[in-house]
Amino acid sequence: MAQLEQLRPHWHSRMTFLLAAVGSAVGLGNIWKFPYVAGTQGGGAFVVVYLLCIALVGLPVLMAELYIGQKGQANAVTAFARLTDSKRTAWQLPGYLGVVSSVLILSFYGVVGGWVLNFLIQAATTGFSSLDLVQVKGLFAEMLASPLQMAVMQALFMLAVIAVVAAGVSAGLEWLNKLLMPALLVLLGVLLLRASSLSGFESALSFLFAVDLSKLSAEGVLEAVGHAFFTLSVGIGAILTYGSYVPPEQSLARTSVLIALSDTGVALVAGLVVFSAVFTYGFEPSAGPGLMFVTVPAVLAQMPGGHWFGTTFFLLVSFAALTSAVSMLQVVVAYFEEVFELSTALVAWVAGVLIFVLGLLPLLSFNVLAEVRVLGLNWFDLFDATTSQYLLPITGTLMSLFFGWKLKLVAAEQVVGKGFKAWFLLWSTRLIAPLAILVIMLRKILFSS
Ligand code: PHE
Repeated sequence: MAQLEQLRPHWHSRMTFLLAAVGSAVGLGNIWKFPYVAGTQGGGAFVVVYLLCIALVGLPVLMAELYIGQKGQANAVTAFARLTDSKRTAWQLPGYLGVVSSVLILSFYGVVGGWVLNFLIQAATTGFSSLDLVQVKGLFAEMLASPLQMAVMQALFMLAVIAVVAAGVSAGLEWLNKLLMPALLVLLGVLLLRASSLSGFESALSFLFAVDLSKLSAEGVLEAVGHAFFTLSVGIGAILTYGSYVPPEQSLARTSVLIALSDTGVALVAGLVVFSAVFTYGFEPSAGPGLMFVTVPAVLAQMPGGHWFGTTFFLLVSFAALTSAVSMLQVVVAYFEEVFELSTALVAWVAGVLIFVLGLLPLLSFNVLAEVRVLGLNWFDLFDATTSQYLLPITGTLMSLFFGWKLKLVAAEQVVGKGFKAWFLLWSTRLIAPLAILVIMLRKILFSS
């Protein structure tokens, strides 16, 4: 085993690990989903609940997952076996669930990644110039109606993901994140600067930060817990797998907090940028999923300099999506290459291509298969709902319980040091996080129609 650990690739520094983990966490969840959910759930009140969920549920589970990966020094399935000193254990279930969720999520994440590339090209070439809202809606609808156009873009996106993962941890993942994450921060900074000079900036600030609790719904609270998981990349084995490339003795506490803070920071700034633009041009903040693909382009079409603002914006989104997607594929690749002793590149290509093919189901659900319903949902919504509403929360709970009840106080103390913090981490993983998750799932099961 000692030999295995020596052979295992490790991040070259704390900094590159931090960049990679933030790269995984910061994704479409921050720039696409967070603004539109905050927009539909009443702004500031949702933001407060979301921040609480990150601190009380997301961060403890993030620490637990990182720890399991780091101490197990193995992929999501094997790590649990090592930590229980057994060859096979029922505790490996969350590992397997993580591999399955990664496949499912990446299959439709790749589709949306393709949309982003498509919009990046449009922003860079036409800048959506002189289109009005109806025409932009038409543009989006046209794309959704064209399977070929979407599949080509999805294929491009997946090719990039596969190429990076096939190159390995140092030459692929580490290299990509070292390059793109600082660039992402610069792009975000530029956008924030531009947004702050727009007349809608103050309205955006008060929309996101003025708390009016009467706007909060039970639905909003539930969305917040679920989103806390997705946005931190926990409950899927991605953070666990990245944790497994951290040298076994390195401390995790500060990095975990930095990951959560950066992820939240990016979501809030992205929200500010989007809403400043939306309010300046008198659009609605509650457009839902179309916020980024319809409202934003409509704003860009009217904005002086919208061309470069849009290109910067969609470049930012592509970087964020790519650095997240590679972490999903890595969960699958780490499992197969280690358990079946296969080459990284081979597994990356085979798994990546199969995931692309699987992604054609959600892709076709916007056109050819639009009428097909499985359990009352189209393929895209089915993949999305089964993963984010069930698989991630269940997997996250199991990992959290494993940490709290099986690895116990010693583990918590190794992560955050002795004292109140360890006690809090322990009980959060034993009780608070599992209960919070149980409540969301019960409610979804009992009240969703
Ligand atoms: N955290 C990513 C986002 O916010 C999504 C993701 C989920 C990435 C799970 C990896 C694993 O978009």
